[in-house]
Amino acid sequence: MNQELHLTVNGERCAVRAAPSTPLLYVLRNDLCLNGPKFGCGLGECGACMVLVEGRAARACVLPVSAVADRRITTLEGLADGDRPDPVQQAFIDEQGAQCGYCLNGMIMTVRGLLNDNPAPDRDALVAALDHNLCRCGTHQEILAAACRAAG
Ligand code: FES
Repeated sequence: MNQELHLTVNGERCAVRAAPSTPLLYVLRNDLCLNGPKFGCGLGECGACMVLVEGRAARACVLPVSAVADRRITTLEGLADGDRPDPVQQAFIDEQGAQCGYCLNGMIMTVRGLLNDNPAPDRDALVAALDHNLCRCGTHQEILAAACRAAG
């Protein structure tokens, strides 16, 4: 049964009506019109739907919306500082880390989540963090180069 839930998304408080078990991804995309997080597999396996919850990367397709009420949610739309892209976004631009671009939300949010925990990860840590983010175009080398650039 639907109920009113209060969320904090990209710094804004909002109320939505949804069943508590509704995946956060559906609420973000369908109710809040935030289309940065993508629907890929819907099973927690591809990473396309990644968001940050309290600064940590989380797969929104398998996260019940009720589990994140009153927690700080950030989507791709909330990363930039006004007109200035987040350094991770800028690194992906600089390295041309995209082909079709569908996976990029997940790649960028995963790297941002890692850097929030560890500002200077080595290449192995970046590879491990991105291990479960799929890119069907096979752009992994450019994506890794962007992740390394973002990590300085
Ligand atoms: Fe969430 Fe694939 S859509 S992990």
